[in-house]
Order: sequence, then C-alpha cells, then structure tokens
Amino acid sequence: MRDRLEALKVEALRELEAAGNSQELLDLRVKYLGKKGPLTEILRGMGALSAEERPIIGQVANDVRQAIEQVLDAKQEEVQKQETAEKLKGETIDVSLPGRQSVPAGTEHPLSRVIREIEDIFTGMGYTVEEGPEVETDYYNFEAMNMPKNHSARDMQDTFYVTEELLMRTHTSPVQARTLKRLEGHVPVKIICPGKVYRRDEDDATHSHQFTQIEGLVVDKGIRMSDLKGTLLQFAKEMFGPNTRIRIRPSFFPFTEPSAEVDVSCMMCGGVGCRTCKGSGWIEILGSGMVHPNVLRMQGYDPEVYSGFAFGMGVERIAMLKYGIDDIRHFYTNDMRLLKQFSKL
Ligand code: DAH
Repeated sequence: MRDRLEALKVEALRELEAAGNSQELLDLRVKYLGKKGPLTEILRGMGALSAEERPIIGQVANDVRQAIEQVLDAKQEEVQKQETAEKLKGETIDVSLPGRQSVPAGTEHPLSRVIREIEDIFTGMGYTVEEGPEVETDYYNFEAMNMPKNHSARDMQDTFYVTEELLMRTHTSPVQARTLKRLEGHVPVKIICPGKVYRRDEDDATHSHQFTQIEGLVVDKGIRMSDLKGTLLQFAKEMFGPNTRIRIRPSFFPFTEPSAEVDVSCMMCGGVGCRTCKGSGWIEILGSGMVHPNVLRMQGYDPEVYSGFAFGMGVERIAMLKYGIDDIRHFYTNDMRLLKQFSKL
C-alpha cells in the first residue's frame, strides 16, 4: 500500500509538472484528490489493515495528500499569475486612441456671437461693458429717459408692467441713467450695455416680445455729433466690412436732441440695391443722437459743461442681416439645424 501511495505521488507530481493552465490543474485536483480519485480509494481500503499498520499508512497517505496539495497550490498560483499577465496584456488600453463615440460639441449661439463681436469692437475703442436689471423701475425706463408719466412717446414701446412702478424694461437706455448716477458726475463715461428687452408685441417674423439690444453712451466735455458719426462709421466698417458707408437721417427720440437714425450701405449688394435693402442700397441699423440735456441734468451732469452721444441697436436685426436669417423666431426656437450652421463659421 505504501508503494502504491508513493507511486501515486510520483505520478501526480509528474502530471502536475506538465500542467500548463488552470483548467488542467482543476482536472488534476479532481483526478487525484477527488472523491473518486485513487487516494480516496486507497484510504477506503485501510479498513483491511492491521491496527499497527493503519496509523503508519494513514500518515503516509496524509503526507502524499499534502505533498500533492502543496504542489497543486503552488502551481495554481504560478499559472494564475501567468494567465492574469496574459489577460492584461491583451486588454492593454491605449489611452491615446481617439474615442469611438464623439461627444457633440456645442456652438456659440448666433446672438451671443454678435454680442461678443460688438463688445470686442467697442472695448477695442476703450468702452467698458455695463449691465442693468431686466425688471426695471418706471423711473429709469421712462422718466430718467425724459419720458414723464403720460408722455406720448411711451406708446412707442408697449410695456409689460409688473406693478404700477415696476416693468420689464422696454429698452437698454435706462442703463444710461443708471451709469450716470453711479459715476456721480465723473467723466469720461464710455460704456456699452447689451441685454434683453421686452415689449408687448405680437410675435412674427420681425417682432418678438423679448429681444436683445446694445446701448452705447459717451459723456465728456466737448463731445460733438461728429464724434458720434466717426464712432459709428468705425463700428460699421469693423462689423460689416471695410467698404461699408453710413448715412445719418434726422429722427426723434425723447432722450436725444438732435436724434438720428443710422443706415449702413447694404452688406448684401454693397449699396447697388437688392431684396434685402428693398432696392434702396441702405439698411437702418440703429437709433442715436446727442444726449438730451434733461437726461444729463437729472443724473447730476451740468449740460452746460458736459455733452454726450448715445445709440441703441437691435442685436437680432444685425444678426439677421449679417447671417441672412429671415425670421427672428429662429433665435429662440433652438432648432439644432440652425445652431449647427454656426459651428462652421
Ligand atoms: N431706446 C431706443 C429704442 O429702444 C433706441 C435708441 C435710440 C437708443 C436712440 C439710444 C438712442 O440710446 O440715442 O427704440
């Protein structure tokens, strides 16, 4: 029996030595140590041994079992290490490879883009960018802009009222008064103010109850109409191209005197006349004028000492002209097909 056990051990160790993967090792474990294996069979036959022999053979059997187990465990560990190393080698991740699914990149909204362009032009001329509240007081929106209560010009801007004294600003002009008040008589004042404005309009292709304006204001000693003209010509050239010309027509705004509307030569046809400019060669882009003495006086600037010019433009209108967008509602309906076109510009 001892010989059988020793032979078994030799045979098992030989086979273990040759085993090359964990499946083979598992098979060998079952083969030699399993319930139906030779070792179990030998141990079962121990009943036939004498009382003296039994512990001796039992000891030998245990030693053999332990020896096989030890080699099995060691071999298993070695094989497993090898297998893991191989698996890792196959699974190596090349972090420099491009992703399989590209995350769609967002694009700048055409309105944000035009605002940024206009800000760049004016900050390049030394202006700073101001902001004001969209929920505004009647005082700043109207009275400080030289439109006292019951002034007929208030009708030009149909208003959403929040309360008797609070409203959704109808234009960015109140930021003029707010800035003058904040600067307490200091000059120079040189600001632009982009922002949302609100009007009780029926929405259609060219009207929206909420749209965007950019206001401009310059106040100092000796500011003249020619400063306004030069500034706006420079702006028009940078915005629409170096060959752009401007034309100034008399107009009326309560907060400027004199007031002017400014046209630029049509950016589609260069001024020859086309559908966009309705054959005239000119396109109106903004309202402007010399700041009304009342507006200066109300915020503590003596109109005998200081003068200024102001202008206000609709950003949607400029974006529509610049990019050939034919309906103002496109800016708010967030149709990805429209927005995507701006990723290529
Ligand atoms: N606030 C005017 C509007 O919304 C636009 C405007 C005209 C602004 C003349 C000005 C200006 O600053 O001088 O229709």
